[in-house]
Amino acid sequence: MAQAILNFPRGFLWGTATASHQVEGNNLNNNWYAWEKSGHIINRNACGMACDWWGGRWKEDFDRAAESGQNAHRLSVEWSRIQPDLNRWDEEALDYYREMLRGLLERGLTPMVTLHHFSEPLWISELGGWQNEAIVEHFAAFVRRTVEALQEYVHWWCTINEPNVYAVQAYLTAEFPPGKKSLAAVYKAINTLIKGHVAAYQIIHEIQPEAKVGLAHQYRGFAPAKPISPLDRWAAKTTSNAFNDAIPRALVDGKLRFLGIRKRISEAKGTQDFLGLNYYTRENVAFSLLAPGELFSKRFFSPEADLSPSGFIANEPEGFFQALKWAKGFKLPIMVTENGTEDAEDHFRPRYLAEHIHQLWHAVNFNWKIQGYFHWSLTDNFEWERGWAQRFGLWELNPATQERLKRPSADFFAAICQQNALSSEMVSEYAPEVFARLFPD
Ligand code: GAL
Repeated sequence: MAQAILNFPRGFLWGTATASHQVEGNNLNNNWYAWEKSGHIINRNACGMACDWWGGRWKEDFDRAAESGQNAHRLSVEWSRIQPDLNRWDEEALDYYREMLRGLLERGLTPMVTLHHFSEPLWISELGGWQNEAIVEHFAAFVRRTVEALQEYVHWWCTINEPNVYAVQAYLTAEFPPGKKSLAAVYKAINTLIKGHVAAYQIIHEIQPEAKVGLAHQYRGFAPAKPISPLDRWAAKTTSNAFNDAIPRALVDGKLRFLGIRKRISEAKGTQDFLGLNYYTRENVAFSLLAPGELFSKRFFSPEADLSPSGFIANEPEGFFQALKWAKGFKLPIMVTENGTEDAEDHFRPRYLAEHIHQLWHAVNFNWKIQGYFHWSLTDNFEWERGWAQRFGLWELNPATQERLKRPSADFFAAICQQNALSSEMVSEYAPEVFARLFPD
């Protein structure tokens, strides 16, 4: 049997990622709570206490992360807690975040903080959210106050999580609040989100010139269903340009190109210090006249795909390599800000993890400037419109009792973090079904 140790560079960051609304619990003053109350979550699930971090269980979860060799953690702060109303700031909430961040540092975990991860205060939604340019100024004020309070503990900032996913799911597919279905609204949201990012980027650097500021882009692989078909190739490219490229390219050269529209947003030029990459999966795209609202594209997983239990994610590790290659094109240091899968039984996750870390190692070995990897997620948490129906945690969580149970993948990921490597021994122990593929004789 082949024996090998695939090492990562010294100082590589290994951690997990979380988001305030998904883990804190009882965020009763944001758009997601209102969305939940109006019956939009699968099985009418409630976020409830989530992982009870606001009740203090972050301590035991940070212990879990540190004990399993992680040296970093990405979390987000909840705008609706820090600024519950236009003219009200909650200093206690900021103090509590300071305590959490100290908790990370005391355990040897480098924090990365996201300032907007899908949730925003109700008063912002009532003003029209990202359809109203006034949000840019409000977001800027929130960022200033928050960064001033937390700067002492934070070097890595993520302004906005997945603006592409947010714009599409809130304003086109209606899976996120406010549940609109309009391509014009998507375009408007993208414009405003870019301006919000730019304002945040400038403010953070004004307060903390040495900070590293970026955002978490979701890159989804789109492959033409039939590579020889020019129409399928056109559909895949159009989808990819709009979803994957439009926002990050605008942050490079200050030009937004979205479905044939070109707009100059000059102030956006050069507003990333690193490229944050969230990658989950890749799918096929076929041209379809029946789907004008979806850019004439029908999207589906390849019939041979290895699917997660609910069919939400296809295990496409080469897609991860392509995503990293795409990220490299921006000529910035790369941080993998999310990668992971749902899998309550943990039958699928170990091979997903093995194969994705293997591709990450490949990319690192081309000397691409990849600085770290955050797995989604530490424990199961509230998965947005999918509620508790999908379980992404290395630890299983019972939201009713708050009991945590370690899944085998937690030990597997711990071995990777502790050894700063993926070894053949680990793969033969945790994901033997892919051993021959990863370590051919
Ligand atoms: C991402 C999102 C995370 C998490 C993950 C898994 O798009 O940023 O908050 O929900 O998907 O569904």
